[in-house]
Order: sequence, then C-alpha cells, then structure tokens
Amino acid sequence: MLALGLALGAVASHAADIEVLHWWTSGGEARALAELTKKLEASGHRWRDFSVAGGGGDNAMLLLKTRVVSGYPPMAAQIKGPEIREWAEDGLLADIGDVASAGNWDATLPAVVANAMKYEGRYVAAPVNVHRVNWMWINPEVLKKAGVEPPTSWDALIASADSIRKAGFTPIAHGGQPWQDFTLFESVALGVGGADFYKKAFVSLDSATLQGATMTKALDTFKSLRKLIDAGAPNREWSAATAMVISGKAAVQFMGDWAKGEFARAGKQPGRDYLCLPAPGTDKAYTYNIDSFAFFRQRHDEARKAQADLANALMGAEFQENFNLAKGSIPARTNARMDRFDDCAKRSAEAFRATAQSGGLVPSVAHRMAAPEAVQAAMQAAVSAYFNDANMSTRDAQARLVQAVAAGNVQR
Ligand code: GAL
Repeated sequence: MLALGLALGAVASHAADIEVLHWWTSGGEARALAELTKKLEASGHRWRDFSVAGGGGDNAMLLLKTRVVSGYPPMAAQIKGPEIREWAEDGLLADIGDVASAGNWDATLPAVVANAMKYEGRYVAAPVNVHRVNWMWINPEVLKKAGVEPPTSWDALIASADSIRKAGFTPIAHGGQPWQDFTLFESVALGVGGADFYKKAFVSLDSATLQGATMTKALDTFKSLRKLIDAGAPNREWSAATAMVISGKAAVQFMGDWAKGEFARAGKQPGRDYLCLPAPGTDKAYTYNIDSFAFFRQRHDEARKAQADLANALMGAEFQENFNLAKGSIPARTNARMDRFDDCAKRSAEAFRATAQSGGLVPSVAHRMAAPEAVQAAMQAAVSAYFNDANMSTRDAQARLVQAVAAGNVQR
C-alpha cells in the first residue's frame, strides 16, 4: 500500500486535465494519437480528447475559434505553420521557452522546424513530426492488371487512364473535399512548375506568377485529372480513398504520408503490397507539413505544469519514434533513429535532408504551412471551385488566386 502510494505520488504530483484539440480521427491517426494519451496517462494526467473530424483541419480550426472567443481555449491545439504566429500575435499563446531550453530544442530540431514553432524568438509550440505531402500511393497489382507502368509524368497518368478503367479500376482514388482537391493541386503545381515556381506562387504569393503561363499549365493539367476520379468522390474522407487503393479498387492516391498510417494499420507492406513514389515530376522536391501543438495561456499553476509535461512528452525521442511509426511521418527531431522505420519513411528522411540543401524543400500550401490562413482558405476555395465546375475557365481560376492574396492582405 505504501509502495503504491509512493508510486502514485511520484507520477501524479501535479495531475491535471489535459485537453488537446486535434483532427486525428482516422484509424491510423487514432493509433498514433494513442501513443500520446498513453504517455500522459502514465504520468498521472487525464487526457480530455477534443477531436474534430475532418482531414486537413478546416473544421477543427473553426471550432477552435469558437472556443477561444467564448473564453475557454483548450490547453493545446494542433495548429501549424504561419497560423502559430497569427495566434501568438493575438496574445493567446503561452511561452514555453523554459521547457525548450531545458530540452535543448534548438539543437534538436532542424532550423525550418524550430523557426515555425517560435514567436519573437520564443517557443510557443512543439512539433511531433514531418509529413511529406508530395507522395503517390500505388497499388502495383492494379497497375499490372491494367498493363500500365507507374506514371513518371502527369501526362503519362492521364494517357493510361483508359487502360486502368477498362481493366475495371478507378485511376485516382480521391475524396471530393476542398482540402483534398487542394492537396492534389499543390502536387500537380510542383510537378509541372518545379520548386522555384511553387515558392513564387505559394510562399511569395507573387501575382505575376499566379497569372502566368506555368500556372495556366498547372491548372489545365489538374483539371484533366478530374476525369480520372469516380462518381462516388464527393465528400469522401481521405482515408476511404486510401482504402480504395488498399483493397484494389483504385490505382493511385495523391496524399501525404498520413496515408501510410492506413496501409500500416491494414497490415500492408511497402514495396510488396503498395508503392510510395514521389508524385510525377516532384522527385527532387519535398512539400513539408509539420504537425505541431501550440499552447494556450493557462491561469493556474497546476495547468501550467501539466502543459510543460505535455510539451516534454511531444518532444520525447521515444515518443516521436513510436508515434511516427503509426502516423506515417518521420520524427521532427534530427538524428532520430530510423532503423524501425519502413523504406518510405527512410526515403522521406533522406529527401528532407537533400532538399533542404538543394532548395527543393517547400512548405505545403494545402496543409497550412505556406500562406497566412485567410490567403490559404481563399486559394483553397478557388482551386476547389475550379476543379468541380466544368464552366469555370482557367483564366477565372487564376484571377481568383490573385484575389485570394489581396483578400488575405485586407484581413491582416
Ligand atoms: C494534415 C495533418 C496530418 C493528417 C492530415 C489528414 O493536415 O497535418 O497530420 O492528419 O491532415 O487528417
């Protein structure tokens, strides 16, 4: 009894409710999240799940605003990229610089990751991983039955669509949701225009580039892919689209490597049951998407201590390894042990390093890493409307992209 009391005392000296907003509700995502809840519960805290379904986080971010406006922010929320800064500017985020210094985060994280977590030089968020978005997930059996090679260009994929369909399969597994449309589009834009074009368009938000000929070509190519998608696509969840590739109903899916979490959960092996290849034309580039949690200011000491435990847990080496094995991503920490990871993850880690040197490393605009939120949302709406409206011209789409930047500037 005494021993038990001591043990409990050791773990639960400042036990608190840890409420975290996230949108990890698919099978693979939930498996990854369980690594975090397990860890925090083992140190005596109570996990209060605040999950908001909807890949890409659009629904979650709407709900977060409602909660913050009503004066009850969660302890932490999955907030990414420039939005971390936007929340910090409103004075809502907690400075976790002391936890970060004690854990030596500056020396542990790649600069591109560390910088995204800071506001005015102080950490206000903690990263858990790096996802690569520009992947193509292939069912090799399906391609074989259709007599088609893995596509090395978007045109080759479009040209092979008839053979894939005649063999009885859907060429592209897709869910018709704006963020999935935008995810597909950013890979097409990167493949057609290259990393420099991508950066000018989606990081510098340069209007000449948004109106230029390369963007026209990217949009035209993107629109041609609409015919490669089945009639059941509207509103389909991304994980249901991944399931079409897993079960051999569709040939390919273009999605970040959270899709690998679904393959892994289904017991599938890369190289044998499925292939991971960079999306056509993007093998020298890497669209990164860092999952991170920003911390909201807490009124009570207990809660602040629990928040520090959460920050430490998120950055733990062993946690990041286990979490990312289930999530499909790679650890955010540099020099993480990769021996338990599969080939796709090893290639992602290698490409992340190589593209950071070559200039091919670019932030995912669809996953909230590149542009201010208002611009990102308006661009996403424009791209999705264009994809789904047969009557909207490419010129109109380009005009709307330019307007998206202007609208974002007004809101800032
Ligand atoms: C991304 C997020 C990933 C994954 C995906 C689908 O924005 O970074 O972790 O969850 O959405 O839900």
